[in-house]
Amino acid sequence: MAYDNRQYWPQLHERLKGQLKSVGHPFLSETLNRLKYQSEAAALEKVLRQAVDILKASGQQNIAFLDIGAGTGFWTELITNALVSEGFQVDASALDISSDALDVINERLPQVHGIKEDLAAVSPDKFCNSYALVSAFYCFHHLVRSKDFINAFRFAGSSVRNGGWFLVMDPVLTRPYSKFDVHDYYAYKGNGIPRHLYFVDDILAEVGLKRWAIQPAVSFVLNGCVEAPGPGSYFIMSKSWELLGRLFRSERATQTFSRIFVSLDEKLKQSNHSFSSSVCLYRKEL
Ligand SMILES: C[S@@+](CC[C@H](N)C(=O)[O-])C[C@H]1O[C@@H](n2cnc3c(N)ncnc32)[C@H](O)[C@@H]1O
Repeated sequence: MAYDNRQYWPQLHERLKGQLKSVGHPFLSETLNRLKYQSEAAALEKVLRQAVDILKASGQQNIAFLDIGAGTGFWTELITNALVSEGFQVDASALDISSDALDVINERLPQVHGIKEDLAAVSPDKFCNSYALVSAFYCFHHLVRSKDFINAFRFAGSSVRNGGWFLVMDPVLTRPYSKFDVHDYYAYKGNGIPRHLYFVDDILAEVGLKRWAIQPAVSFVLNGCVEAPGPGSYFIMSKSWELLGRLFRSERATQTFSRIFVSLDEKLKQSNHSFSSSVCLYRKEL
């Protein structure tokens, strides 16, 4: 394996400081990255609603919130604002391996506590039972070594308080076919590996969490496919993403056709044909 997680991310944040590209698709236009985040934000809203309603019903007013692998702080800010608009007092923290990422968050969101940690090395019990809400968006699949991936999920799960919530947005596999199921361990050079949903459920069950909801976050049209009903459909979607990638490199071309892609993305998500990332909500059982 050529990819070194501990070098890759600090270097990328240094090079593309504060840009969505630093946390989305670094070789595609900022416009494409914005469309992808908009699609994901719409999916998050539906899932977060379920947790917010129960938090409200419990009479809780103060929420300790931790965003893991926070990057530019896009989701830290969006989730904090969503909770504040529901009347909660939010004490937000953002964790990342990159000092540059944390500097950007500190400038944009001075009220957020920055935490520099490596998820591969952090003790899973470091923040045991500390947060009513923990989120981790597009971070854990970048931990390509299995032991790092498991450590990160154990850390996230055990940081959730009893009765609290964990939101994870990532490519997780739920369909019969993915090329990631058959990649060659020794030759693999990618910076991410999607894992199966049952595997994530299993790790989180060990630390007391149970899946509450799952929803398509974005479709293969705006983010590429990670899975398919079979190898034929996988091949077609991968080739389509390759062709779209050429167009998505240009800001102007992406802007010109953006309406078409947004509408297609919505339809694919609604009909459960998105074949890309998902947003999952877990709860720590009381
Ligand atoms: C694809 S970005 C996603 C950022 C943000 N959550 C978002 O969706 O916009 C992945 C983030 O995880 C962080 N990250 C990667 N490996 C990490 C590790 N081992 N420990 C802590 N953070 C890590 C990176 O620095 C980066 O900010």
